[in-house]
Amino acid sequence: MENERSALDVCTPPLTPTTNAKIDDGIPDKDSSNGAGESVVYTLKPSTRAYASTARLNLQHYLWKDQTGYLLHPSISLSGAENLRIADVGTGTGIWLLDLARTLPPTAQLDGFDIDISDCPPEQWLPQNVTMRHLDALGEMPEHLFGVYDVVQLRLFQVVVRDNDPGPLLRNVLKMLKPGGYLQWAEYDMSTQTTIKASPSLSSSALDAVPAFVQGFQRKDGRVGVQNWIPHLPTHFHTHHLTHILSARHPTTPSFLPHQLDVFLLTYEELAAKTLAKGPGDTLRGLIEAASEESRRGVAWGMERLVVVGRKGEERGNGDGDGGGGVGGEERGGKGMERENAAPGGGNGAGAMKVSGVKEKRKSRRESWLRIWKRMSG
Ligand SMILES: C[S@@+](CC[C@H](N)C(=O)[O-])C[C@H]1O[C@@H](n2cnc3c(N)ncnc32)[C@H](O)[C@@H]1O
Repeated sequence: MENERSALDVCTPPLTPTTNAKIDDGIPDKDSSNGAGESVVYTLKPSTRAYASTARLNLQHYLWKDQTGYLLHPSISLSGAENLRIADVGTGTGIWLLDLARTLPPTAQLDGFDIDISDCPPEQWLPQNVTMRHLDALGEMPEHLFGVYDVVQLRLFQVVVRDNDPGPLLRNVLKMLKPGGYLQWAEYDMSTQTTIKASPSLSSSALDAVPAFVQGFQRKDGRVGVQNWIPHLPTHFHTHHLTHILSARHPTTPSFLPHQLDVFLLTYEELAAKTLAKGPGDTLRGLIEAASEESRRGVAWGMERLVVVGRKGEERGNGDGDGGGGVGGEERGGKGMERENAAPGGGNGAGAMKVSGVKEKRKSRRESWLRIWKRMSG
């Protein structure tokens, strides 16, 4: 299903330019059309080659799981909850939910929601305790979904969020949670994006130019404004009265950087092939090919995955529970799945995490990322 929202569904790529590279992008100015009577806008829901798009989402999922080490953050305690209800909003291919279902007892009920469930497996092939349903998470939330879920997850809503404000989405999904239920929201934090080179002399000009090109396209198109809400997600949780807020940051292990970059480039390729007007699309495709060659020589983008977890207050609406409010600790790390016998939820069995309250003032996210990366590669 194509609609205005899905047309804005760019979920993966870093959208911030890393250079001021000037390219003749050939992008038509704002309000121009692509010749088919449609405004020029990117989309990751192509009507053809859906298999490439879904394969990319599924690969991205497995890389995400590998690099974070969990499906549900280990601080999410599912023990004691009988007849668990879990919702995945914006489920895409349903891959996260289906992967999670394998780790839970059949008494757990898992429901995927999306404005377009055509990328999910057919109903007949789903486990008996998994459903995929149509839902516009930005529309009015149906009352039958109020207070139903122990856990709601959102992942990769980067550009679905409007006006740089995740508030409307947050308010809506919070309605779905039971009091005390957990919200997990996972995104790439584009503000941490940096170009990483295996050797300093390597050129990254094409790789740097790709986001600059797309940024230029977005500016001219005028539909997508600044999207800098992601690093502030914990604060948004706090504003919306979630409690026990934790955030975890996961950079990509150096050896996985090329694989992760391939996912980003595939995303841009979809963008180029299906949406951009012919001229700009060709330019972007050329840049992507050159970026891919650079990548093979040892250049990639580093970017943290950010996972934020919070709980809905037990009483009197959100956040009035047991005083656990406030933006809690932030943890950093790479893989956490290396233990065997992963706990239900695909986690590493670490149990409830400490809310340290330590608020580290980093000079900049980029410096911080590089520090971690150096430590991991050392
Ligand atoms: C990149 S995809 C992420 C899919 C999945 N969460 C994952 O991590 O693999 C974003 C998904 O959000 C869905 N979406 C976009 N706008 C939505 C809305 N208003 N309500 C529900 N889902 C929406 C898209 O159809 C798409 O499947």
